[in-house]
Amino acid sequence: MKKAALLYEGKAKKMYATDDEQVVWAEYIDQATALNGAKKVAIAHKGTLNNQISGHIFNYLKTQGIESAFIQQMSETEQIMKKVQIIPLETVVRNLASGHFETKFNVAHLMKFKQPIVEFYYKSDALDDPFINDAQIVALDIATPAQIAELKQKALTVNTALKQFFADIDITLVDFKLEFGLDFEGNILLADEISPDTARLIDQKTGKSLDKDVFRKGLGDLRPGYEEVLKRIEDKERAINVLG
Ligand code: C5P
Repeated sequence: MKKAALLYEGKAKKMYATDDEQVVWAEYIDQATALNGAKKVAIAHKGTLNNQISGHIFNYLKTQGIESAFIQQMSETEQIMKKVQIIPLETVVRNLASGHFETKFNVAHLMKFKQPIVEFYYKSDALDDPFINDAQIVALDIATPAQIAELKQKALTVNTALKQFFADIDITLVDFKLEFGLDFEGNILLADEISPDTARLIDQKTGKSLDKDVFRKGLGDLRPGYEEVLKRIEDKERAINVLG
């Protein structure tokens, strides 16, 4: 597999074409952004951490029967993925109140919900990714009612699997964002990345954030938290391999 022309540069990844029309090559870059890119800082080694964490998570989801666009890691900072047409929605799942939900409804930090919440945001830098409801998604022809139902169901299935994955390494999964795409046959496929950039993760022992909130809130270097997440995932996998 050969890396070809740069397709576009996102906030956390550069996407390249490959010699296979159905495959794209992602390079995770050493950059953190917040406030829709208004806050942007170079952070050495961050690309490596997210590339590896995301790869481990997609491999785990596969073992749980959840397919994604992720194919395999190619280097410390690179991975290849099935080419999909990204649906311009950010699908957010929340288990505990934090971030925008906490502010919007003025509820206690980490308030537990009766059931997980799925929300959609319209992916648009120009509009600052506004909240969008089901009727608006259909009206704007972004997805059909059947596709919306499938996105919600898939997001909740990922949530169940990920909550367990993180609980096993003493981490609470507060909330996270997913992106989905359509493959060449029109099937909805989980895509993009799942990492501490896109999920709120709290250490059950210390109560500390192991995710991008450290950067968003200006609490210091985000890397020790990301490194801890990767270390716990790798330790768990080693333990499973020894047993297996
Ligand atoms: O900011 P908010 O509370 O809506 O974020 C919910 C979840 O979605 C968080 O885990 C956050 O990291 C993720 N998110 C993201 N990219 C965005 C917005 C939110 O990964 N553009």
